[in-house]
Amino acid sequence: MTTIAVIGPGAIGGTVAAWLAQNPDFAITLCARTPLDDLRVETPRGVITATPEVLTDPALARPVDWVLVATKTYDVDSTRLWLERLLGGNTRVAIIQNGVEHVRLFSHLVPAERLVPVMINLPAVRSAPGRIAQHRHGIIAVPAGRNGSDFVELFAQTEIEAAAHEDFLSQLWIKLTGNSIAIVPALTLRATGPVWSADMEAIIRGLVEECAAVGRAEGADIPQDVVEQAVANARNSQEGAIAGSIHADRLAGHPMEVDARNGVIVRLGEKHGIATPMNRVLVTLLAGSGSPWVEK
Ligand SMILES: NC(=O)c1ccc[n+]([C@@H]2O[C@H](COP(=O)([O-])OP(=O)(O)OC[C@H]3O[C@@H](n4cnc5c(N)ncnc54)[C@H](OP(=O)(O)O)[C@@H]3O)[C@@H](O)[C@H]2O)c1
Repeated sequence: MTTIAVIGPGAIGGTVAAWLAQNPDFAITLCARTPLDDLRVETPRGVITATPEVLTDPALARPVDWVLVATKTYDVDSTRLWLERLLGGNTRVAIIQNGVEHVRLFSHLVPAERLVPVMINLPAVRSAPGRIAQHRHGIIAVPAGRNGSDFVELFAQTEIEAAAHEDFLSQLWIKLTGNSIAIVPALTLRATGPVWSADMEAIIRGLVEECAAVGRAEGADIPQDVVEQAVANARNSQEGAIAGSIHADRLAGHPMEVDARNGVIVRLGEKHGIATPMNRVLVTLLAGSGSPWVEK
């Protein structure tokens, strides 16, 4: 029996846990902040359900084979008590979050050789604790190597497509390049498509080009198509759409993953001597909006 604990059973953690729980060889434990009874996920393949063990008290947690962390990036430090209890001699810890700094964010909590950074493309929304809609087929990327291959193996019997990549860095930065535009609707509180103009395109293009330039300086291979696709996505976004999780988080009055999504472009741009004026201005404006926002 493989034991797997999921810290943060929200939209992503709940969906991943529900898929893994379909495998009778896996014992899943949900490490939750808000209590939940069970998981019910509407997937593109139909509804899947699961009744894993649910813990809300870290003191009750025991060492497991795998820990999957799926909190927002601003909640990293609050996972410390769980990690202290869940890590045994051979436990590996997969970080399923957006951004490009999975290892840096957890380096003070987990030995680097145990960490598996995970890029996930899986749009999911939680309507209540344990109630999730997975909108499209899910894709997971991890670095090549033993930890990465073992993590991929966990998903062999799921509908989530997991693969290990020699050039994982590019996977992370390609995702971030697409995500970098979401700060605009988080500021304007509406989709960019209906208010598209040459000036709006210049802002969107600036955000994306800056991200791609910094990613390339970090060593990522980001085809220009990725930049053009991100601009096209912003142009085509529909009236009324919640354009990404930082927009949704701002509407809900939650903290936002601004540092992990755009602040990082400014910080790493500084390191490489690359100017990132568009990201810097929008990060500063969003930080000044009065919304809760945690600086890293
Ligand atoms: N949703 C998507 O479509 C999507 C797609 C790709 C990537 N991502 C990324 O995946 C990550 C997770 O996003 P999400 O959308 O799944 O967020 P989410 O729905 O807000 O889920 C986060 C979960 O973490 C829980 N949590 C926070 N601190 C905790 C702690 N100390 N102990 C236990 N649980 C804790 C939250 O508890 P509560 O129940 O109390 O809130 C919540 O259940 C983010 O980095 C996001 O950017 C999301």
